[in-house]
Amino acid sequence: MPIRIRGGNIAGTLGVLLSLTIAPMALAAPLTIEDGTQTVRTETEALLARPDRIEVTIERDVAYGGTRRYQAVPLEALVATFPSGDPDATLEAAALDGFAAQIPLALARSSGPAAARGWLAIEAPGAAWPALPGKSEGAGPFYIVWERPAASGVTQEYWAYQVAALRYVPSPERRWPQMTVDAALPADHPARLGLRTFVGTCLSCHRINGAGTAEMGPDLNQPMNPTEYFQADALRRFIRDPASVRTWPDRKMPGFAPDQISDAQLDGLIAYLEHMVSRRTAR
Ligand code: HEC
Repeated sequence: MPIRIRGGNIAGTLGVLLSLTIAPMALAAPLTIEDGTQTVRTETEALLARPDRIEVTIERDVAYGGTRRYQAVPLEALVATFPSGDPDATLEAAALDGFAAQIPLALARSSGPAAARGWLAIEAPGAAWPALPGKSEGAGPFYIVWERPAASGVTQEYWAYQVAALRYVPSPERRWPQMTVDAALPADHPARLGLRTFVGTCLSCHRINGAGTAEMGPDLNQPMNPTEYFQADALRRFIRDPASVRTWPDRKMPGFAPDQISDAQLDGLIAYLEHMVSRRTAR
């Protein structure tokens, strides 16, 4: 069940090349943690040696499907030095292939029996993870997994895999004001819901008006916005199931079923995209 399908990358290619000469074995990999003041570089062995590393069981694993067990460190502990006080602060989890999840920092810090809890799963040398469904490489070296994701609205985009860096950043709306909606829009305008859905679901792969750090899919407002060149029905179909509109072997855009994006959220997304046409900024 490949929910998110992403393309190859240099590390993956390297891994394939190495695996031709060495038996399948995960390599120790670096992880960068940037708390806004300093940058700490750690790596696989150091993370595995932490006293708070345990084995967690993850049900309904988003990348692999099914139940899986991981050596993991609480996300909360890895972001312990990130500043507190900004309720909108964000944890950017950047992956090797240009994917970048924007996870609310409060969610990364949440714990307790009734809340979602995030973990950084660590691929141990000698215990390589399998390839992701339909792909040639696995979710390693680091993969953000969640216990009780439904308890706190964890979207599938927060299950970032092939993670290389964790960064303290402002909320997307504050970091990139060019993606916000016109402040004069009524509070219940669907474009406002659309912006929230876009941040939680699309921004990890797409920029809009240049906003974002993802390098995976196209900018959705520059130079043109899909609402300007897709027929309305086809755009909705595309978001639900891209392959129902057009497909090719290296397609990477996943589809979003109603349990991931409700009809109201989809209406909101379209309203947001339409609204952004009038707010296009120069490239
Ligand atoms: C995992 C990455 C990923 C996510 C998440 C994602 N997309 Fe995409 N999207 C892509 C890629 C990559 C393409 C280019 C086509 C391809 O390779 O599949 C694309 C193409 C598109 C296109 C077609 C653009 C064109 O001109 O061809 C639209 C529209 C689109 N995405 C909208 C969205 C919306 C809306 C969301 C959020 C609900 C979203 N995408 C989430 C990766 C993603």
